[in-house]
Amino acid sequence: MEIHGKTIIITGAASGIGLAMAQRFKAEGAKALILADLNADGVTAAGRALDALAVPTDVGDEAQIKALVAAAEAAHGPVDVFCSNAGVIAKGDEDQPDDEINFCWQINSMAHVYAARVVAPGMAERGNGYLLNTVSAAGLLIQVDSVAYTMSKHAALGLAEFLAAKYGPSGVRVSVVCPQGVRTAMTAGRPETPAAVDGMIDADDVAEAVVAGMADERFLILPHPTVADYVARKAGDRDRWLRGMARLRERLFAGEIKQ
Ligand SMILES: NC(=O)c1ccc[n+]([C@@H]2O[C@H](COP(=O)([O-])OP(=O)(O)OC[C@H]3O[C@@H](n4cnc5c(N)ncnc54)[C@H](O)[C@@H]3O)[C@@H](O)[C@H]2O)c1
Repeated sequence: MEIHGKTIIITGAASGIGLAMAQRFKAEGAKALILADLNADGVTAAGRALDALAVPTDVGDEAQIKALVAAAEAAHGPVDVFCSNAGVIAKGDEDQPDDEINFCWQINSMAHVYAARVVAPGMAERGNGYLLNTVSAAGLLIQVDSVAYTMSKHAALGLAEFLAAKYGPSGVRVSVVCPQGVRTAMTAGRPETPAAVDGMIDADDVAEAVVAGMADERFLILPHPTVADYVARKAGDRDRWLRGMARLRERLFAGEIKQ
């Protein structure tokens, strides 16, 4: 799908990857941008800078996603593209408190469910539309320092595959963007997080990969191409891959990789 002429909602648009996608979509000639974020001041400033509708929204609350889409439709008509991009991380293992796991679950997984519920049926009726979900390489592999992030991003990937199979025949496209380390607020102060093992990229690089991936209507968008090799290795020999993950954890927790 070409971005030119499209009406596009982006969540988590006040900073990082969401803001970079908004800037890039504007440059590509999007018809209308609707920016959503929990950070009301940040999203208002982004809206002003990009001449876009800013809607302060908590994506973990289904009623607020419905209100976001209603506001977008009232201002600009049907939504062509919904980018579920807002995301959070909380480090910890399986002893992580339930509320931290549920927090990641609600924002990283359920927000994508809420968006699909409200926009996908209309897109299918019109015979076109696009769900662009920011997942992570952690959704294909693991995030060795966070069980909540690993679980919620795997769920987001599974949901996107389900939606692609369900809505593909009706002309609705689904993509997941799965970067490793990106220089944003999420990784600020943690330049050597496990996500940085193959080097950090900029949010603009992710936006570039998204535009190219959407033009090809490719399900899996990998701003770090090396992730494709990891996925192939995991599929080829999962036990060997898991031994590699164990070694990475040892290096991480021995302090060789700073968190
Ligand atoms: N930075 C990385 O290394 C990296 C790697 C892979 C995937 N990701 C994913 O990219 C996405 C964007 O993250 P980022 O790196 O740009 O970080 P970021 O912190 O710069 O941006 C995240 C945005 O989401 C917003 N947000 C958080 N909770 C929200 C909520 N409940 N409702 C609405 N908005 C909310 C924040 O206010 C922020 O503006 C996330 O889904 C993240 O998991 C990031």
